[in-house]
Amino acid sequence: MLTIEKFSASYGPVHALHGIDLRVEAGEAVCLLGSNGAGKSTLIRSLMGLGPLVSGAAHFEGRDLSVHAVEDRVRLGLAVVFEGRGILPAMSVHENLLMGGYCRSRADIAQTLEQVVALFPLLASRRNQPAGTLSGGEQQMLAIARALMSRPKMIMLDEPSMGLAPIVVEQVFEAIAEVNRRGVAILLVEQNMHMALAVAQRFYVLDRGAVVLAGTVSDGVLTSNTGQVLHEDEIESAYMGEKT
Ligand SMILES: Nc1ncnc2c1ncn2[C@@H]1O[C@H](COP(=O)(O)OP(=O)(O)OP(=O)(O)O)[C@@H](O)[C@H]1O
Ligand SMILES: [Mg+2]
Repeated sequence: MLTIEKFSASYGPVHALHGIDLRVEAGEAVCLLGSNGAGKSTLIRSLMGLGPLVSGAAHFEGRDLSVHAVEDRVRLGLAVVFEGRGILPAMSVHENLLMGGYCRSRADIAQTLEQVVALFPLLASRRNQPAGTLSGGEQQMLAIARALMSRPKMIMLDEPSMGLAPIVVEQVFEAIAEVNRRGVAILLVEQNMHMALAVAQRFYVLDRGAVVLAGTVSDGVLTSNTGQVLHEDEIESAYMGEKT
C-alpha cells in the first residue's frame, strides 16, 4: 500500500533522513521505533507533504505521492495524527471531528460521524465541550477519531502515547488495534516499544535518520528480517544504544 524507497530529507544542512526503505501493506500495522531526533516525525511530515526537501520515492497504492498536494494525499486515503495531537482547543469536540471530514460530502460526513462516535462513545457525551478541556487521553482519542473522519485506508500516528499515564496509553493502543482490526493500515511511530510491538505485525528501528533493524512480530515473537529471533531489549539497544 505504502512503499518508500531511498527516502531522504534535510532541513538545510541538517540531514534528518538518509535513504529510508519502508513499506506498509494494506490492512497491516507497522511500527517505527526510534529515540528523540531519529527522524520519525520528519518521515511522517514528509509523507503528508509537509516535510522538508526530499529525494527518493514514496508511492501510495501505486501513486507517486510527490505530485500530490497535502489535501490530495488525504483524498487518496492517507491520514495523520500528529505529535502533540493538533486538536483545536477552543473548538468543540464535534467541530474538531467535522474538520477531519472536510474533504468528504455532507451525507458521507454524517454517516462517518456515526461510525466514529460508535467507536469512541466518550466523544458523544462530550460533543459540545471545548476540545481543550478534554483530558490528555481523551484528546488523543479525539485526534484518532478526527483522522478516521476522512475514511482513510491508512493512518500514521506520531507518538500517541506521549505524555499519557500507562493505563491511558493502554486504552489508546486498544483503540488503535481496533481501528486496525477494522481494516485500516497503521504506521505507528513510537518510543514506547513494548506497547507498539503489541499492536504491530512488523517493526522498523530508526537511528539517526536510517533504518538499522527491521522485522516481524508474531504471537509476541520478534524476528529480524535476517531470520534472527530478537528480545525487546535488543531492539531497544538498536536505537537507545550508546546514547543512553
Ligand atoms: N524545522 C526543523 N529545522 C531544522 N532541523 C529540524 C527541524 N525539525 C527537525 N529537525 C531535526 O531533524 C532531526 C529529526 O527530527 P524529528 O523531529 O524528525 O525527530 P523525531 O524522531 O520525531 O524525534 P522525537 O522523538 O523527539 O519527536 C533532528 O535532528 C532535528 O533536530
Ligand atoms: Mg517526533
